[in-house]
Amino acid sequence: MMATVAAGGPDAAARRREPRAHATRRTSFYANLRPQLYRLIESETVDPVRNPYAPGAGQRPPELAGRDRELQQFEVVLERVARDRPERSMIITGLRGVGKTVLLNAFRSMAIQRLWGTGKIEARPDQSIRRPVASALHMAVRELAPRHRAPDRIEGFLGVLKAFAQAGEEPSGGRAKARAHRWQPGIDVPASRGRADSGDLEIDLTELFVDAASVATDVGAGIALFVDEMQDIPADDVSALCAACHELSQTGGPLIVVGAGLPHLPAVLSASKSYSERLFRYARIDRLDRDSADVALLAPAEREEVTFTKDALDALYGAADGYPYFVQAYAKVVWDVAPDTPITVDDIKVAAPEAESELAVGFFGSRYERATPAERDYMRAMAMLGEEGDAPVATSSVADELGRKPSSLSPARDGLIKKGLIYSAERGLVAFTVPHFGKFLRAQPA
Ligand SMILES: Nc1ncnc2c1ncn2[C@@H]1O[C@H](COP(=O)(O)OP(=O)(O)OP(=O)(O)O)[C@@H](O)[C@H]1O
Ligand SMILES: [Mg+2]
Repeated sequence: MMATVAAGGPDAAARRREPRAHATRRTSFYANLRPQLYRLIESETVDPVRNPYAPGAGQRPPELAGRDRELQQFEVVLERVARDRPERSMIITGLRGVGKTVLLNAFRSMAIQRLWGTGKIEARPDQSIRRPVASALHMAVRELAPRHRAPDRIEGFLGVLKAFAQAGEEPSGGRAKARAHRWQPGIDVPASRGRADSGDLEIDLTELFVDAASVATDVGAGIALFVDEMQDIPADDVSALCAACHELSQTGGPLIVVGAGLPHLPAVLSASKSYSERLFRYARIDRLDRDSADVALLAPAEREEVTFTKDALDALYGAADGYPYFVQAYAKVVWDVAPDTPITVDDIKVAAPEAESELAVGFFGSRYERATPAERDYMRAMAMLGEEGDAPVATSSVADELGRKPSSLSPARDGLIKKGLIYSAERGLVAFTVPHFGKFLRAQPA
């Protein structure tokens, strides 16, 4: 069911700039050692070169398991928009590593297959969405342009788009000019005036969306704007985005905003606009159930004529707990160590320590390193309170655990929320966004 997904592009470039890059370098260092190990393994049936598994942020899995319901829901969304039915858009939420980005990319492929124009942004804290949205819609409309009969309509839209992008600039001054210069959209037409350029994002987005939707209507298609890490959109911008979607849902233009984010995203949106609950259809994605986790492991293996014993599948489910990232991470290492098919429970035992240490560096450690010392203390206290499982803990208990006043811990808590390491879906409660993070922290020396 998994269709071609547009390659990482701007997302991948953005990730390379992040501090996480350190972990990636370390991982690729070990990856470089692997070819030498291959020679020692001398396995022909379970060939490391053909290892199908794909642990990594946004990495397309060899089998998109257990997401049929969400894919069907999105199919309905696309179909309804195509038939001009009023449609609520979709928002995927879930913990880190459950496959939100991958699912968003799969949705994008579905839209592309229907010849829709698509664009994607990855929101960042403290960054206005104006420019990223402009670039994404530019890409979406460029996809539609070759099918449009009236080039001047496209040019008209591009003029509005350019004005929209530039309207975020400070009105005067060298810095603003310099920045205006830096935006290199490759739009040759001059910026138009009087539409989507007021400087008020809510008004401008609404006008831009309406115009983009009308270009899509001309070619009998739609436009889908995908927003990853949606919880990171600054508060004012989120409210503008909701308002623009609301406006659009009333006029019925074929443009939808499809989002993905952490579990508290619905709370962020409804705090911004109370009507957001009616605006979006929320789909929470979670760990894979046993059958889906088995499919995620077996389907790619069987394409390479490799299989797993039942005991091996039991052990893998025990270790990965159904979390897609962990499923991929364990399977990848297990494949590399397994001498032959079927892969057995003993292979899992041999592979587990390496898989765990790779996760400790690449999945947990890289995130832990982003926290300040005070934030680390806060997370350790959460971990101590949490014991098994990832149930939310009370912020007041965290304060007790640290022997501090709750108010003095607000900066640490807010910092962690901003870094996407914890979330607060309910007042007074916090939880880790990273599955098994409590367990990881409890295993660390103090
Ligand atoms: N349905 C699935 N079946 C099997 N593997 C999957 C599935 N969904 C995602 N994965 C794998 O899980 C890993 C994490 O996926 P992804 O990066 O999309 O998660 P995410 O929810 O966006 O995480 P984050 O919150 O950190 O951005 C990837 O290695 C991907 O290949
Ligand atoms: Mg993601």
